[in-house]
Amino acid sequence: MFVASFIVVTIAVSAAIAQSNNCGSDFTFLVQDQQDANTVSKCGTFDGAITIDRGAGPFIDFGSVETITGTVTAQNNNILASLKFSNLTSLGGLELVNLNQLVELDLSSLQNSSSGLNMYSLTSLILLDLAKLESTSNLVIQSNSLLTNFSAPDLVHINGTNSFLDFENNAALTTIAFPRLVDVASSNAVFSGNIQNISFPFLTNIAGALTVTSTNKNFDCGPINNLRSSFIVKGFVNCTSGDAELSQQPVPTPSSATSSATVTTSNAISSTTSSVMNTTATSGPITASPNPSSGVSDSGKIGIGVGVGIGGALVLGFLGFIVWRRWRQSSYKLTQTSRTAEPGVSDSVEPGIAMSQEPGVAID
Ligand SMILES: *[C@@H]1O[C@H](CO)[C@@H](O)[C@H](O)[C@H]1NC(C)=O
Ligand SMILES: *[C@@H]1O[C@H](CO)[C@@H](O)[C@H](O)[C@H]1NC(C)=O
Ligand SMILES: *[C@@H]1O[C@H](CO)[C@@H](O)[C@H](O)[C@H]1NC(C)=O
Ligand SMILES: *[C@@H]1O[C@H](CO)[C@@H](O)[C@H](O)[C@H]1NC(C)=O
Ligand SMILES: *[C@@H]1O[C@H](CO)[C@@H](O)[C@H](O)[C@H]1NC(C)=O
Ligand SMILES: *[C@@H]1O[C@H](CO)[C@@H](O)[C@H](O)[C@H]1NC(C)=O
Ligand SMILES: *[C@@H]1O[C@H](CO)[C@@H](O)[C@H](O)[C@H]1NC(C)=O
Repeated sequence: MFVASFIVVTIAVSAAIAQSNNCGSDFTFLVQDQQDANTVSKCGTFDGAITIDRGAGPFIDFGSVETITGTVTAQNNNILASLKFSNLTSLGGLELVNLNQLVELDLSSLQNSSSGLNMYSLTSLILLDLAKLESTSNLVIQSNSLLTNFSAPDLVHINGTNSFLDFENNAALTTIAFPRLVDVASSNAVFSGNIQNISFPFLTNIAGALTVTSTNKNFDCGPINNLRSSFIVKGFVNCTSGDAELSQQPVPTPSSATSSATVTTSNAISSTTSSVMNTTATSGPITASPNPSSGVSDSGKIGIGVGVGIGGALVLGFLGFIVWRRWRQSSYKLTQTSRTAEPGVSDSVEPGIAMSQEPGVAID
C-alpha cells in the first residue's frame, strides 16, 4: 500500500517534471506541426527559443501561450500560410525570413519584444496584427511585397541598446502609422518605397538618423526635415522624394539652433516651420499639414504630426539636446555613419569628456 502510493507519487512528480520541461529548454524547440505548437500552447510561459520548421504548415497556431522568452524563428518555409500567437503578450524576439505563402500573422496581444521583430521577404503577407504592441527593441519590415498599410496603434517605445526602425523595399506599402510612438531611443529610422503617408504625431526623439526615400514624387519632405530643425531627430535627416529630387536638411549646430526659429528655408517647408517653431505653450500634438500652395496633389498629401508642446519644447529640446549630447558622449556613441554626418555635434564636444571615453566602453 505504502509502496504503491509512493510509486504513484513518483510517477506524478516525474510527469510534472516532464511537463515543465516541455515549457522550456536550453536548446531550441523545433515545431514541425500543429502538434508541436500545441505543446507550447499549453504553457503559460515558454522559457526558450522556438524554430518553426521549413516543412511546418499551412496553419500553425500557438493558441494560449502568453510568454515566450526566447526568439521565434521561421525561415525558407513555402507552406506556412497562417501563423498565430493570439494570446502572446511578451516575446523575446521574432525572426521571420522568406516565408512566401504567409498571408496572416497574428500577434494581436503582443505588448513587448525585448530583442525585436524582424520580418523579411514575407511576400504574401496581408494581415499583420500588432494591435497591442507597446515596446520593441527594433522593428524591421522589409521586402514584404503585398503589405499596403502598416499601423502599430499602441507602440510607444522603440527602445533597447540598438533600437531601430527599418521599412524598406515593401512594394505596395504606402501608409505607415505610428499614432503613439514617442521615441526611437538609441539609433536610426529608415523608410523607403512608394510611401505616401508616414505619421508619428507624438514623436519626440529619434536618437540616430532619419532617412526617408519615397519614390512618390508628391511626398512632401518638408515636415520630415522639420523634425531635424526641431531637434526631434538627433542625427541627420535625409529625405528624398520622386526620382531625383534631393532635399537634405543641413545639420544645425547648437549655436544656430537658438536662432533657427527665424531661419526660413524653402517655400515648401516655411509654413510648417513656423507652425512648429513659433507656437507657444501647447501641450497636445500639432499636426503639420502640407502647404496648400506648394502644389501637392490630394493623392500625395502627407500628414506628419509633430507631437511636442512646441514653444517651450524648443527651449526644453535644446536643453535636452545638451543633456543628451553629454549622455551620449559619456555612455555610448552612435554608429560611425551618424557621427561623421554630424559635424556640428562631433566637432563641438568637450575635449575632456571625449578624450576620456574609452572606445571599448561604447555600446553600439
Ligand atoms: C486567449 O485568452 C482568452 C482570455 O484572455 C481566452 O478566452 C481565449 O480562449 C484564449 N485563446 C486561445 C487560443 O487560447
Ligand atoms: C513585457 O511585458 C510583460 C508582461 O506584460 C512584463 O512582465 C515584462 O516586464 C515586459 N518586459 C519589457 C521588457 O517591457
Ligand atoms: C490596413 O487597413 C485596413 C483597413 O483600414 C485594416 O483593416 C488593416 O488592419 C490594416 N492593416 C495593417 C497591417 O495595419
Ligand atoms: C522599453 O519600454 C518599455 C515600456 O515603457 C519598458 O517596460 C522597457 O523596460 C523598456 N526596455 C528597455 C530595454 O529600455
Ligand atoms: C540621401 O539618401 C539618398 C537615398 O538613400 C542617397 O542616395 C544620398 O546619398 C543620401 N544623401 C546624403 C547626403 O547622405
Ligand atoms: C512668430 O510669432 C510672432 C507673434 O505671434 C509673429 O509676429 C511672427 O511673425 C511669427 N514668426 C513667424 C516666423 O511666423
Ligand atoms: C496621413 O495620416 C494621418 C494620420 O493617420 C491622417 O490624419 C492623414 O489624413 C493622412 N493623410 C493622407 C493624405 O492620407
